Amino acid sequence: MKKGIPDFLYGGDYNPEQWPEDTWKDDLKVFKQADLNSATVNVFSWSLLEPREGEFDFSMLDKIIENLSAANFDIVLATSTAAMPAWMFKKYPDVARVDYQGRRHVFGARHNFCPSSENYRRLARQLVLKLAQRYHDNPHIVAWHVNNEYGGNCYCDNCAATFREWLKARYQTLDALNAAWNMNVWSHAIHDWDEIVVPNELGDAWGPEGTETIVAGLSVDYLRFQSDQMLELFKLEKKLIEQYSPDIPVTTNFHSLPNKMIDYQKWAKDQDIISYDSYPAYNMPTYHPAFLYDLMRTLKHRPFMLMESTPSQVNWQPYSPLKRPGQMRATELQAVAHGADTVQFFQLKQALGGSEKFHGAVIAHSGRTDTRAFKEVAELGHDLKRVGPMIQHSTTPAKVALIFDWSNFWSFEYIDGITQDLEYIPLILDYYRQFYERNIPTDVISVDDDFSQYDLVVAPILYMVKPGLDQKINQYVKSGGHFVTTFMSGMVGPSDNIYPGGYPGPLKDVTGVWVEESDAVLPDQAVKVKVGDSDYDAHLICDLIHPQGATVLASYDSEFYAGTAAVTENKYGQGTAWYIGSRLEHAGLSKLIDRIVKGAGVQPLIAEQTPLEITKRVTAEGRELYFVLNMGNDTQQLPESLQGYHDLLTDKPAAAQLNGWDVEILAQN
Ligand code: GLA
Ligand code: ZN
Repeated sequence: MKKGIPDFLYGGDYNPEQWPEDTWKDDLKVFKQADLNSATVNVFSWSLLEPREGEFDFSMLDKIIENLSAANFDIVLATSTAAMPAWMFKKYPDVARVDYQGRRHVFGARHNFCPSSENYRRLARQLVLKLAQRYHDNPHIVAWHVNNEYGGNCYCDNCAATFREWLKARYQTLDALNAAWNMNVWSHAIHDWDEIVVPNELGDAWGPEGTETIVAGLSVDYLRFQSDQMLELFKLEKKLIEQYSPDIPVTTNFHSLPNKMIDYQKWAKDQDIISYDSYPAYNMPTYHPAFLYDLMRTLKHRPFMLMESTPSQVNWQPYSPLKRPGQMRATELQAVAHGADTVQFFQLKQALGGSEKFHGAVIAHSGRTDTRAFKEVAELGHDLKRVGPMIQHSTTPAKVALIFDWSNFWSFEYIDGITQDLEYIPLILDYYRQFYERNIPTDVISVDDDFSQYDLVVAPILYMVKPGLDQKINQYVKSGGHFVTTFMSGMVGPSDNIYPGGYPGPLKDVTGVWVEESDAVLPDQAVKVKVGDSDYDAHLICDLIHPQGATVLASYDSEFYAGTAAVTENKYGQGTAWYIGSRLEHAGLSKLIDRIVKGAGVQPLIAEQTPLEITKRVTAEGRELYFVLNMGNDTQQLPESLQGYHDLLTDKPAAAQLNGWDVEILAQN
């Protein structure tokens, strides 16, 4: 059994190798002023650790680790395999990725290794082994950080050859493969494994990587394969580390969607703890990061590490505004509210050169501590020092689950038609937002999770239904569950071929509907849907629905299908299933969700409606902690039902008013 992370970490990426050694001592003093207790080191140091093949020099890393250890810092030790030294590209060009355009990359950038390169694997293995042997007995190391933000695909000949082996294992015979990919279309049937080529822009693509494709079964399989190949790299490093350091958790930092190339649900099993880098864009609605945190927490149904975030601004978004006064505190605590057990920054000291020199940091270029950003970091540090231990390990119970499925994500966005606007995440967010705004805790689950622990399972755009999933849904609803699905659901099996017999394929039974056709709504138009007494706009797609046992909850109110069903409700066994046939504007969907939430008997955390974001974490002793977040500039009143609680952050009775970006963590006295 591995140890957990011993403390509530407050720290982040620290790259002292970019600075003269005589500055390091002051860094630590400054970190202590802000109550930082941890640093992540060695994320990108391969070229210093191994300046020439087989020649290792750990002297600088030794000193960095010694200094941090002497200051009693918790160390997150990275393996440095995410950016390859120049000599590797020169000596072994196959370590470099070939992109979607078919071009082999050269030295430069990072995160650009080919996952099938034996040379990359051998050299990474050698480095990681040395790191594990050298540092495993340092008691300050609390986690191993493998590589960095895996992602991106390779389309080289080595990958092609390995892909063929992967396909042989999956399909056994060419007949099975031709059938799975439906290869009689356009004379695509293949007769020799060697005829399979990678689906890149020169081959199977219609558009940029990840968008429309010709043989979707091939493209989805390629993404599955690449995700598996990368996972092998992670496992290879993890195994070496565990030989020497069996007790310390090993993780790799996941990053934001749409990094859709890695199936995080599949990867989660091999992570000892999930870690996540969060950089919400300035114009993202606040439910978007909340959704991603809930996804990260649900990957293992356990707290996760907020491995990176910015203390002030990033440099790489088209516009990178500063976090407003108080906003940094609120955005970090939002992650904690949704299950983070650490608060870590990128980075602790701002770079003087390179592409990230204008990325915010705890110690900025000025080196001063009398700055707004530093004071805010220090203030949060003082608070976390006190409340972090009370929060750590607490859980986030939820009775609503939203299904997010990677194969579905991939295949949905590969669809060629019937509108070019098919994007998975915005459609999922439509539904997440409904529960977020009601302060109803929500897990973001995979299709393989246990549904029976939830009162309501919401599966928007469940386009791909793998064998067995339909029975699982049927069983869940039959035994009293509540299930919601939408247009573009139940359409294809695991290789992206249509289920014959009418849409929504294997979900016809549980939903009690048959969809005869689907209309694409033009971008500047809307179809009217009547919900109750009012008309609402519907966009994207309108399903033309025949209820077959289901009752009609809302009908179209324009177009040639006016008067026909747009939304239905079906009693099925002890439970209920709803089918929503179009993308309804927020207010219209809200009306439906009101009914669904009531039907499922789901309760919000507090009875009052409020613009405040509220979550609940429950400690091992059963103590309930309410996180109340004002995720905007306007002042808000604390709901009456939470008045009289104690605010752990101020250690005073809860203030009745929250100013812009204020946060309270409330418990009963
Ligand atoms: C990513 C990387 C970091 C850094 C940050 C900047 O998350 O992991 O190395 O580049 O972005 O925001
Ligand atoms: Zn490759």
